[in-house]
Amino acid sequence: MLARDGARRHAPARIRSLAKGRVAGFAVGMDLVEVCFQGSGKTVFVPPGTTLLAAAGMAGIDVATGCTRGMCGTDAWHVQGAADCLHVAVEPERATLDRMGVAADCRLLCSARVQRGRVVVAGDAVAG
Ligand code: FES
Repeated sequence: MLARDGARRHAPARIRSLAKGRVAGFAVGMDLVEVCFQGSGKTVFVPPGTTLLAAAGMAGIDVATGCTRGMCGTDAWHVQGAADCLHVAVEPERATLDRMGVAADCRLLCSARVQRGRVVVAGDAVAG
């Protein structure tokens, strides 16, 4: 998968196959979701259902992670976009965000999955 800067990024096998299918015309009707990483200026286009952490990996952005299952809160970042651009936070992500007391626009990158449109990942919720 190519990032906007033209660099080739390694994506998980499922995402690679979906992207190839789209290019080859097998994933008719699948709209990719635009994910912009504000601090770096990098943008990637990913299939719906991709986590923001996977999108960050494709963009070549290092994200500090811990459990990668929505429980530790290490990867809480501010996220902007239309209300329906991400799937709603479910457990355990919801409970972790509540426990952390972060702003309402924060999501855990390992758990938040894109749905449609354009998502802007604005910055680490804890580090500022
Ligand atoms: S890495 Fe632990 S919550 Fe995302």
